[in-house]
Amino acid sequence: MRWLIRRVLKKGKGAISYEEDTHFGEVLTIGRAADQAIFLPDLRAALNHARITLLSNGEYKIESLILAGIRVNGEIVYTTTAGADATIEIGNTRLTLLPPPEGYEGGVEVMTLDKGEQKAEKEKRAKPTRLAQTSLRKRWPAWALFVSILLFGLALPMFGHFNPSVGNFLRQSPLPSTLSWNPGTIDAAHHFFAADCTKCHQTPFRTVRDNACLACHANTAAHADAVKFNMPELGNAECRSCHQDHQGLRGLIRRDQRLCADCHANLKANTKNASSFDDVKDFGKAHPEFKLNLPNWDANGKFVPQRVSYAPNLKENSGLKFNHEKHLKADGLNTPKGRRTLDCASCHVPEPGGAKMRPVNFEAMCHDCHTLGFDTLAPAREVQHGKRRRLSRREGADDRARAPPPGFAAVVAAGKGRGARVGT
Ligand code: HEC
Ligand code: HEC
Ligand code: HEC
Ligand code: HEC
Ligand code: HEC
Ligand code: HEC
Repeated sequence: MRWLIRRVLKKGKGAISYEEDTHFGEVLTIGRAADQAIFLPDLRAALNHARITLLSNGEYKIESLILAGIRVNGEIVYTTTAGADATIEIGNTRLTLLPPPEGYEGGVEVMTLDKGEQKAEKEKRAKPTRLAQTSLRKRWPAWALFVSILLFGLALPMFGHFNPSVGNFLRQSPLPSTLSWNPGTIDAAHHFFAADCTKCHQTPFRTVRDNACLACHANTAAHADAVKFNMPELGNAECRSCHQDHQGLRGLIRRDQRLCADCHANLKANTKNASSFDDVKDFGKAHPEFKLNLPNWDANGKFVPQRVSYAPNLKENSGLKFNHEKHLKADGLNTPKGRRTLDCASCHVPEPGGAKMRPVNFEAMCHDCHTLGFDTLAPAREVQHGKRRRLSRREGADDRARAPPPGFAAVVAAGKGRGARVGT
């Protein structure tokens, strides 16, 4: 079998010439060993790198003799068949299979790639790393994204903001609404209207005004009387300077020590001695003993708690006879609704804000167990707690029959029923 091996020789300035050789044999061996039909003086070629055989149908069979495979028509393969014009690349050599030249059964053209050709070859094989190397374009996807962000991020929520029924619909749907502008969780106390941003943000692009808060908090007492203490930090402050909402479920009230200590560390000096309170420099290390607010009533019967320091023999004069021990039994108490174990939080609940405790309240805390029924014929009928005048009032003959027993009203009128003061 006769093979034509044509070597392409490059001369300067792009001129080329050919050198032809004839090889006799069944296979065409390729490699770096001296006995190979096509000898490649290239370290990247193995001694026996590949071989080519001619098939009966005129195609070539190409086999790799190394584990890494060889590159035929740009693909790494181990064994393949290919027709004329297929290219094989080994190191910096490119072999092109030829249609059988006249007088030969097979033919190969061998060409050594120069630096420029090798580089171009490498680039052709490399995966694209820049958008410009692909068929993708930058401009229209950028515009599409920009317009959709404008539409879904701004226009749609804004439409919902100005049109409450659309706003409501958007909030129920998976579409973006003003909720997607929310910079953080609203405080738990405000959750019931949190989705209605306009309750606080009354005017778009304006900070939250005090009026928005005062719509609901008209009766919230100021932290301290700004007139009496005359401090700009109290008088000029807006609600939002201390109550930044969107800080989490319990984030409305700032509890950082610095805010409090800035003012309370020198409260006497800051208020020009208007305050009788001791200075507080640090919650943990420099806090005065807590004072107690004991129940007290002025001459007109108005509730004015009295501020006292703790003393071992201090006695609270609330008129209430309440035994903690009897109520805090670990195994619980019998109640009309079954057994119940009380803990401190059943009766002692902090005020919103947490500075003080809510007053103990009969209806919410005692009534479950201490129902005030007095009439077995009408168990739902109860004495009113703390309303002395209504207790002694008589309305009609039927009522008289079921009024409290004789003598009860007299006791109440004599003022001995002060326990009624709880929760009033
Ligand atoms: C309870 C009142 C209240 C409600 C309800 C409320 N916010 Fe706010 N929001 C505030 C306060 C207070 C601030 C801080 C003061 C300010 O920057 O005006 C604020 C600040 C913001 C800010 C600016 C954040 C920053 O870091 O500057 C955005 C944005 C905002 N709110 C969006 C919303 C959206 C959207 C809603 C409805 C889902 C909403 N808010 C509901 C009270 C509220
Ligand atoms: C729609 C009515 C409403 C508006 C408007 C409103 N609040 Fe409230 N706020 C409430 C209710 C109700 C509570 C819960 C009170 C309670 O638990 O007794 C509350 C609780 C609070 C608390 C105590 C929270 C806690 O964790 O204990 C603070 C502080 C407060 N609001 C400040 C503000 C500020 C500041 C604004 C204006 C930015 C504002 N609120 C606007 C209804 C409102
Ligand atoms: C100088 C800071 C400061 C300013 C300004 C301020 N607060 Fe407060 N507020 C506090 C602190 C601290 C607490 C928690 C301690 C307490 O309850 O006294 C609190 C507690 C509250 C509470 C829960 C306790 C309660 O008494 O019901 C409400 C509601 C409240 N503030 C509403 C407002 C409103 C409305 C405004 C604006 C008109 C406002 N605050 C301005 C610091 C401030
Ligand atoms: C701008 C100054 C200022 C800041 C800030 C401040 N307070 Fe006050 N605080 C006062 C003044 C003034 C009084 C009233 C003193 C008096 O009545 O003699 C007061 C009263 C109090 C009282 C007594 C309330 C009462 O009626 O029994 C407590 C408790 C208190 N502050 C805690 C705090 C805490 C906690 C903080 C921080 C979260 C704080 N204060 C931040 C100025 C401030
Ligand atoms: C069933 C409701 C209830 C439970 C539960 C309860 N308390 Fe009380 N507590 C009261 C009442 C009512 C008063 C007012 C008593 C009075 O005026 O004589 C009070 C008063 C107090 C006082 C004021 C000082 C005093 O003795 O008068 C303290 C402190 C106190 N409780 C702490 C606690 C602690 C701590 C717990 C949990 C271990 C607790 N309480 C559980 C109802 C309760
Ligand atoms: C979970 C049910 C329960 C609740 C809530 C409850 N009590 Fe009682 N209370 C009882 C039981 C049970 C007794 C009887 C205890 C005993 O004699 O050992 C009792 C007894 C009493 C007594 C008589 C105590 C004595 O020394 O004989 C008074 C007074 C009283 N409770 C007041 C209150 C007040 C005030 C509250 C609300 C702040 C309250 N109770 C809440 C179950 C309850």
